[in-house]
Amino acid sequence: MCGIIGILGNHEVAPQLVESLRRLEYRGYDSAGIATVNAGRLDRRRSVGKLVNLSDLLVHEPLAGKAGIGHTRWATHGAATVGNAHPHRSGRTAVVHNGIIENFRELREELAAAGILPETQTDSETVALLTRMFMDRGLGPREAAAATLKKLEGAFALLWLFEGEDDLMIAARKGSPLAIGHGTGEMFVGSDAIALAPLTDRITYLEEGDYAFVTRAGAEIFDAEGRRANRDELRIDLGAARVEKAGYKHFMAKEIAEQPVVLGDALAHYLPGDTVNLPETLDFSGLERLTLVACGTAFYACSVAKYWFETLAGLPCEIDVASEFRYREPPIPAKSFALFVSQSGETADTLAALRYCREKVAKTVAVVNVATSSIAREADVALPILAGVEVGVASTKAFTCQLLVLATLALKAGRDRGHLSAEAFAAHVAGLRSLPGLMNAALAGDGPVAALAERLAEAQDILFLGRGPMFPLALEGALKLKEISYIHAEGYASGELKHGPIALIDRSVPVIVLAPHDRLFDKTVSNMQEVMARHGQVLLISDAKGLAAAAEGVWATLKMPEVPEPFAPILYALPAQLLAYHTAVAKGTDVDQPRNLAKSVTVE
Ligand code: F6R
Repeated sequence: MCGIIGILGNHEVAPQLVESLRRLEYRGYDSAGIATVNAGRLDRRRSVGKLVNLSDLLVHEPLAGKAGIGHTRWATHGAATVGNAHPHRSGRTAVVHNGIIENFRELREELAAAGILPETQTDSETVALLTRMFMDRGLGPREAAAATLKKLEGAFALLWLFEGEDDLMIAARKGSPLAIGHGTGEMFVGSDAIALAPLTDRITYLEEGDYAFVTRAGAEIFDAEGRRANRDELRIDLGAARVEKAGYKHFMAKEIAEQPVVLGDALAHYLPGDTVNLPETLDFSGLERLTLVACGTAFYACSVAKYWFETLAGLPCEIDVASEFRYREPPIPAKSFALFVSQSGETADTLAALRYCREKVAKTVAVVNVATSSIAREADVALPILAGVEVGVASTKAFTCQLLVLATLALKAGRDRGHLSAEAFAAHVAGLRSLPGLMNAALAGDGPVAALAERLAEAQDILFLGRGPMFPLALEGALKLKEISYIHAEGYASGELKHGPIALIDRSVPVIVLAPHDRLFDKTVSNMQEVMARHGQVLLISDAKGLAAAAEGVWATLKMPEVPEPFAPILYALPAQLLAYHTAVAKGTDVDQPRNLAKSVTVE
């Protein structure tokens, strides 16, 4: 949420800043801006909307300088205007910020008393104003930034640049991630390794409360108490940070298509032979409960996994969205694990929920895509989902890889708890191993989906129905559709329809029924019939047996390969994603960067 980049380079930095912002645009795209210092003079350019607008502006009003900072914004306080765009400047300093300064109103009063008034509606500007206040009182940039930090409450990543200082950036992290990149005679700062990938593969992550004085000679890092701190320099895999569309029209299309391969990679890692490759310390026997916490799509992955942990392992599960869990302060048995699922590993609410659980449970487990993320680093055990970089804001391959890791954990729990026989375990492992092949079959020829999507694109409202583990998938299908096509969509447990939502059904409402031919199939079909009796337009997604049994009278069908029962949600995620994708394409929306959203939600 908001992307930050800073470069102390040997060449003109504006093009590099813009290129790095392009890689960070998934974090927000309400506005973008850069500031540079050229021969001591601080100047900036900002524009509203996508980065391309900033690039255009720079063609007409170029910005010279070998030191610079940049920002791509997801608006929290203040509308997406040029005035509210970062970098914020006051006096001799310019600042970019990710996060929220919670006490900015009180700080504004203090600033007003000193005669310094805000010019924007943002909380972020307060940082620049405070720094200026301290510099006006005679402090140097380092002391002024340190004094400013002492006054800030909230969660933030900050980066300062100063007039008259061609060789200084100051970086600070509290709650939002920030990484320092080491070059040869050059230094970089970025929100994540993806931003820094083309610039360097040598990264130091700032830890909670750290701040750093960065010059071309290196970075001096201090902890929250102002003591010099040594932080490890890591080599990151640049290949893993590659973000190209590889011939696809959208990242989302590429990421949907990648699923058989990345799921295969995750399978090879977690189920290499006859056993599960998971840490021995992750012993589920004797546990009273498993708590699963996440947000959005990752929460729906947890919701599917609840069915697996309960049926395959007999393990009681509690699931919750992180923003509710963290303030609900629920009692948790000590004999329990708490599991946090997050693609980015930086979601503020999920991180706070993890911190809430840390002292209370036997183990905290993170299921993340970004192995170096805050959630991965703060959990007792971090399990990478191995999906590769996911750029499309709507999560696709991360969802199915999250499900795969959760299914593997459920199987281990089943064995640890004596709930699954060796034979049943082996059969389920074989079932999981069949998934990449089934996914390939499901993806082959998405022409029928594209044709159906043309019709869906005309709808005002769309419902998704499912039973058992297909219920959370119905929720995920609806989320995917609404976030990228802007069509109102809801997911319901199919048995719940008659308790209210059935009032919504008429001829204009497409109802997408996710129903593999499993033990609940007949019950789902009964609910589907109730919809059809009220002229609802049913799209039935099922396998050959299901379609043969129940396709009569439906508006349309999509045929899926047969899939081992408990793991059907992993396969049926694909048509849900494809329907959302093609509907968005038919509507001409911005598929990879839908309005109002950002990929990494580092504010609560
Ligand atoms: C929807 C989507 C979001 C994320 C949610 C959590 O397609 O991607 O709902 O799942 O913001 O993000 P992570 O997984 O990074 O914690």
